[in-house]
Amino acid sequence: PTGLVTDRMNRPLHDLRLSVTDRCNFRCVYCMPKEIFGRDFAFMEHDELLSFEELTRLARISVAHGVEKIRLTGGEPLLRKGLEDLIALLAELRTPDGREIDIALTTNGSALAMKAQALKDAGLKRVTVSLDSLDDTTFRTMNDVKFPVAKVLHGIDVAEAVGLGPIKVNMVVQRGKNDQDIVAMARHFKDTPYILRFIEFMDVGTSNGWEMGAVVPSKDVIARIHAELPLEEIAPNYSGETSRRWRYQDGGGEIGVISSVTQNFCQTCSRARVSTDGKLFTCLFATEGHDLRALMRGGCSDAELSTVMAHLWRERTDRYSQLRSAKTSELRASGAKKIEMSYIGG
Ligand code: GTP
Ligand code: 5AD
Ligand code: SF4
Ligand code: SF4
Repeated sequence: PTGLVTDRMNRPLHDLRLSVTDRCNFRCVYCMPKEIFGRDFAFMEHDELLSFEELTRLARISVAHGVEKIRLTGGEPLLRKGLEDLIALLAELRTPDGREIDIALTTNGSALAMKAQALKDAGLKRVTVSLDSLDDTTFRTMNDVKFPVAKVLHGIDVAEAVGLGPIKVNMVVQRGKNDQDIVAMARHFKDTPYILRFIEFMDVGTSNGWEMGAVVPSKDVIARIHAELPLEEIAPNYSGETSRRWRYQDGGGEIGVISSVTQNFCQTCSRARVSTDGKLFTCLFATEGHDLRALMRGGCSDAELSTVMAHLWRERTDRYSQLRSAKTSELRASGAKKIEMSYIGG
């Protein structure tokens, strides 16, 4: 039973995001706060992770159902040993009509200078790098492991040089933490091939202490930049794009805003996520996933796996960000826990 699938709201399955490790060498305050992800935190053991063969098997079946883009995430995906071997396996997949798959990686950039060439050689198409400030003190405070910003900037340049561009740079904006750097970031990446995107701080997981007051709405981000560097909105690249695009009126390139809180994009959401231990989640804010690892390790056939995955997508009704306020109180009342981003994958 192969063939394209759409969910109950007529959204196709188009993107697959694979979390390849739940570990990270950073402790970003909005993602893996130290108080929770400390010395005693129990990360997964190696045999709990999906193997490269298991990941590739899920990817192959998803591609038969319409997936054209695969993004490797984490945690920090470059901490997974031999990641380029996985990329090489994924690079062999083709869409039903014979096209290559867009294989991308979201990374904190800390190991990029060292690994970029091997990733490119294995078949990776492009990378997205998280970068929350250019100011070294602010950056070190936000990653909370005192990682210097210069090393990440160097990693971005190396990745661009080996052909992993156009590189997108993601900045999660938190009021009072790094919002003073919005315009400086814009200035820095203007007139470069890099595409800077500002992300609204989201209420993923349960440990990042999210509150609405810490969100800087994207329209304010745009207004602050526009006041100094005039912008105009441009059309999306494709349906279901998370980011709204703006370009500098003087031709200095483009930026984007990802506004999951104030202007959600659930209507066109075509993303499935597989957690580090092989659970399929049909929403970033899901409280439960479907255990595909158990099926695979229990000896199920490709046909069975394919049927299960298609069924899960067909039944999908998720639109958390659209229902956010109602969902928040519902979740609080039920005591259900949202999944942490480092486990389900950004
Ligand atoms: P490309 O268009 O291929 O560059 O990918 P993308 O726009 O999905 O970008 P990326 O994977 O870098 O996602 C950027 C950020 O957007 C993520 O880190 C999340 O913060 C947010 N995001 C991505 N997908 C979703 C989603 O399905 N729901 C919500 N609420 N936020 C998302
Ligand atoms: N809100 C918005 N974006 C987040 N990310 C991690 N946690 C959050 C959050 N609470 C982003 C990271 C990175 C990607 C993996 O997800 O900055 O760009
Ligand atoms: Fe690590 Fe990325 Fe989470 Fe920061 S946002 S702690 S770099 S996984
Ligand atoms: Fe998709 Fe869920 Fe994000 Fe909405 S909240 S865009 S359904 S992942």
